[in-house]
Amino acid sequence: MQFAQTQMFSTQSTIDQLSARDFARIVDLISSEIGVRLHSTKQSMVEARLRRRLRDLQMTSFAEYSDLLFRRAGLEAELPHLVNVLTTNKTDFFREPQHFELLRSTIVRDILATRRLERLPTLKVWSAACSTGAEAYTTAMVLSDMAEKSGAFRYSILGTDVSTEVLHKARIGIYSTEQIAPIPQDMQRKYLLWSRRENPPKEVRIAPELRRRTNFNYLNLMDPHYPVDRDVDIIFLRNVLIYFSKED
Ligand SMILES: C[S@@+](CC[C@H](N)C(=O)[O-])C[C@H]1O[C@@H](n2cnc3c(N)ncnc32)[C@H](O)[C@@H]1O
Repeated sequence: MQFAQTQMFSTQSTIDQLSARDFARIVDLISSEIGVRLHSTKQSMVEARLRRRLRDLQMTSFAEYSDLLFRRAGLEAELPHLVNVLTTNKTDFFREPQHFELLRSTIVRDILATRRLERLPTLKVWSAACSTGAEAYTTAMVLSDMAEKSGAFRYSILGTDVSTEVLHKARIGIYSTEQIAPIPQDMQRKYLLWSRRENPPKEVRIAPELRRRTNFNYLNLMDPHYPVDRDVDIIFLRNVLIYFSKED
């Protein structure tokens, strides 16, 4: 009886844990591909996130998944999914609002001063590591509001990220009512579409005039070249380099 119990536990632990070797290989892979360093203390977080992927693939063990990554030449096809589950995508509208206050009070004015000879300059903004788009759309709201009042400029925004899953959400531009809570009320009324079917609505969509000025593309910050216009005026690069090594 005692033997049977020991057997049962040992089988479960092989199903439920990554081997130290496979964990180390995944850590190295993610660090070399996208710069994100997964700390050795994060093994259980990595396992919890990978379980989602194992379920999608109908796999029952981490060993089977490691086999797909490292032994069956499945890496190229699987890497985007691995990146989707292992990146931390936390973001918010008006996150650290002082940055957007500075944009409004100083930065746009200073840039426009250097371009006063242009009749209607277009300000180009790049949200690098944009996650699900809250930073890009927050910027779009602030700039739309300013442009509407001054009529002095146009703008275009590019959001980029290495996770295809967050880019998909950003392009659609649908958010829960909890997510849009930090957006000031007047901007909520102007820049969000509210569903008439649900009362109260659970989700809202970014208004089409903001979506038209905002594009989202895949870009890995570890790549040697960035296919982004060279004349970008403002770059937001926030809450991503904290995951990289100093050298990267
Ligand atoms: C914590 S979110 C920050 C989002 C937003 N900048 C903000 O401050 O709210 C970090 C984002 O960086 C992205 N990321 C991580 N490594 C990247 C890389 N090598 N290239 C581009 N994006 C990366 C992740 O996919 C994630 O969406």
